[in-house]
Amino acid sequence: MSAKPSVVIDTRVIYCGDNLDQLRKLPEACVDLVYIDPPFNSNRNYEVFWGETKEKRSFVDRHESTKAYIDYMRPRCVELHRVLKKTGSFYYHCDWHASHYVKVMLDQIFGENNFINEIIWKRQSAHSDAKQGSKHLGRIHDSIFLYAKSDDYAFTHLYRSYDEGYVEKFYKHVEPETGRRYSLGDITAPGGAAPSKGNPHYEFLGVERWWRFSRERMQELYEQGRIVQTKPGAVPREKRYLDEGKGVPLGTVWDDIGPVQGMGESLGYPTQKPLKLLQRVLELSSSANDIVLDAFCGCGTALVAAQLLKRQWIGIDISPTACRVMAQRLKKDCGLKEDEKLQLIGRGFVVRDLPKTEEELRKYPPFEFENWAVVALGGTKNARQVGDMGIDGRIYPVTAMPERRGARTGEMDFMDEWYPIQVKQTAKVGRPDIDAFEAVMIREERMLGYFVGFEFTGDALFEIDRFRRKEGREIKPLTVREILGEEIALQ
Ligand SMILES: C[S@@+](CC[C@H](N)C(=O)[O-])C[C@H]1O[C@@H](n2cnc3c(N)ncnc32)[C@H](O)[C@@H]1O
Repeated sequence: MSAKPSVVIDTRVIYCGDNLDQLRKLPEACVDLVYIDPPFNSNRNYEVFWGETKEKRSFVDRHESTKAYIDYMRPRCVELHRVLKKTGSFYYHCDWHASHYVKVMLDQIFGENNFINEIIWKRQSAHSDAKQGSKHLGRIHDSIFLYAKSDDYAFTHLYRSYDEGYVEKFYKHVEPETGRRYSLGDITAPGGAAPSKGNPHYEFLGVERWWRFSRERMQELYEQGRIVQTKPGAVPREKRYLDEGKGVPLGTVWDDIGPVQGMGESLGYPTQKPLKLLQRVLELSSSANDIVLDAFCGCGTALVAAQLLKRQWIGIDISPTACRVMAQRLKKDCGLKEDEKLQLIGRGFVVRDLPKTEEELRKYPPFEFENWAVVALGGTKNARQVGDMGIDGRIYPVTAMPERRGARTGEMDFMDEWYPIQVKQTAKVGRPDIDAFEAVMIREERMLGYFVGFEFTGDALFEIDRFRRKEGREIKPLTVREILGEEIALQ
């Protein structure tokens, strides 16, 4: 069963593009919960802000970069604040690099009084980054800042199960008949000999005290076997069963959520967050059918959490690759269909604003362009980013494909039947590019290969023809225009 589609805004939509542009199209006060996890750590986009040698730079340099980061984030956070409902909450996930600056920026946007909590998420996978010889402590946590739009924000208290040590210490009794663990709780009135008004004073099981319960209630509990006197004359106590307790109220330190890697969730996306973390955030600050927005949604963890918890959702990511990865994930993990008609009735989702023109694709970062081309051809990316030996992706013909789960990189390396894909983003693919690809095809013993480019020179096409006639091997030149127009039919 799915949540109902929103009547206010389009939900179950992944927008591909810069969130600043996308957010400006959303109406005011339309979402209940915003979670963002902007790039700030070992991510390609991150290098825009920090550069690869970040740790070695002087404070002044780093400060400059922090300023650039905050300047970049500020208008986006202003927009996120605008689209949040009065009852809404905002979560900003970050780490030591910029957390203090982020806090100041958010105080300015949301108001200091609307700061609710700083959550410390202890990333268990992060074996301390304090290597031998380094002079700092291991940085093993992220900070998640929680802000509310107003005092009227929605909030549900959550409880964590007791840890083993706590159970052993405080629930040390076990009922022989049922095996249920229990503790023995104090039932005398708070305040001892001078309790607050309203507590009764009477004798029970030979003990005279101020009690928490009326005589009738005490008798009732006794008859239910819930009042225990351990020896004659001892003060009676109440049995409190472990399985009836709510657990420990959730605090700001979250050290009970393991890494994605150990949970079989990993999609190979370096900054992917655990589903349990996002589910917790959503349970704290939203209810069924509420609208959740993740404006930096990566591989879509928040969207999957929202879908599983029957919330409405909107995702935004600038990377078309990320948008495709999360679309696959929503299909696989939530059984949702990518379908415009089903999206309207709340049973499917859509990805909007994926690049459609040659001009847009020319401006893509090379990595994104390669991904776009390989995915558009129905291929899989080469397992290695570096040292790909002239192959950007592979097509496994349908006829050769065994039943398999997903199509993740490297998963089908065992299969011998595949066609190499080479992608070039330069204005024109020339003869030397074709020569290099021919060498790859001969080395890999391939009879068919695909070459994607914006245009091919006459020399390049002539060489392709010569190669086919002389070697009997075929290189199919594909232009971006053809792919966009889906004019190609792959064998
Ligand atoms: C740290 S990742 C998010 C990971 C995500 N929480 C998950 O669990 O998969 C940050 C994402 O923000 C995206 N991003 C960076 N700048 C953006 C922008 N201006 N607009 C939209 N998305 C952006 C990146 O493409 C990246 O996928």
